[in-house]
Amino acid sequence: QPPAASRVGITLETYILDGMMGFPEATGAFTSLLNQIGLAAKLITSKVRRAGLANILGYTGETNVQGEQVQKLDEVANETLLSSLGRRGHCAAVASEELEEPRVLSTDPRARYVVVTDPLDGSSNIDVNISIGTIFGILRKKEDRAGAEAADFLRPGRELLAAGYVLYGSSTMLVITTGVGGVHGFTYDPTVGEFFLSHENIRIPSGGGLYSINEGNSGRWTEEVRRWNAWVKEEDKGTGRPYACRYVGSLVADAHRTLLKGGLFAYPADRKNQRGKLRLLYEANPFAFVFEAAGGRATTGSERILDIEPTELHQRVPVVLGGTEEVTLFEEFMRGKR
Ligand code: AHG
Ligand code: MN
Ligand code: MN
Ligand code: MN
Repeated sequence: QPPAASRVGITLETYILDGMMGFPEATGAFTSLLNQIGLAAKLITSKVRRAGLANILGYTGETNVQGEQVQKLDEVANETLLSSLGRRGHCAAVASEELEEPRVLSTDPRARYVVVTDPLDGSSNIDVNISIGTIFGILRKKEDRAGAEAADFLRPGRELLAAGYVLYGSSTMLVITTGVGGVHGFTYDPTVGEFFLSHENIRIPSGGGLYSINEGNSGRWTEEVRRWNAWVKEEDKGTGRPYACRYVGSLVADAHRTLLKGGLFAYPADRKNQRGKLRLLYEANPFAFVFEAAGGRATTGSERILDIEPTELHQRVPVVLGGTEEVTLFEEFMRGKR
């Protein structure tokens, strides 16, 4: 019985067209939309890799709806995604971290999908050449009518049709899942201009022994988070403690490392960020979708992220992503059981 021909090395387009991701809806429009996201990732990659030369580092001088100073690359990535997604007429509207309201791209009722995105995640790391990323999710519009409205976006993350991210790290890697067909990583080969399958069916390992949190916030954490934080640092060979701490400050980088190596990432609520810092629609939900599809868990510390009923486009939630065992243990601390 010859070994199954390895699929590592086939392109993202082939993988999508061959429906190897077990789409919930393998329509041509859906596969075309996924390919538009792949195109945007290539375009943004080339801009990220040359940012220092193309005079697109630094600030635009504007402030976004989050109250953050907008980096030139935030804006470039946002515009690149909007134009790629608008090109084939399958995406009705986009909700973006950089847009106060969703941008309608097509009023054709046949445009049946909407996209949520953080076009450039980890903006504070752009100018110091540390990994940054793009996060995306695809939802089906609630009904086939012209355009889209907030109600098409304010849905629990479990309704996502696909979600993933692009990590502009030592290499550029696109990770995507449709929730049912596994989580797959595609690495960009700039000499060919294609994404090639490099990590088929990613599963989060258990007992990763890593934790990722901004220790600088510890003075503002709740008593429960502090107790968990002290526990992970205690000497205990039997439970692989003390865990090693890794924190990049770009969610895409910290979450991707956690997905591949195991452990957990946490951005809990604190006295300053009472609802947490990360945004539900285009940061927490896409990653929660990926982590659950890879056999991990994603919680606010008290509830499953994918079950949260959103009320506002840019609402923030506490986020804990990781291996089932590590996240379950974190929840026990949050519930005062430890
Ligand atoms: P963005 O750059 O898209 O605004 O997101 C930044 C987020 C996320 O990437 C990261 O996990 C978090 O901010 C880091 O926050 P702190 O600097 O407060 O740790
Ligand atoms: Mn931002
Ligand atoms: Mn972000
Ligand atoms: Mn961002």
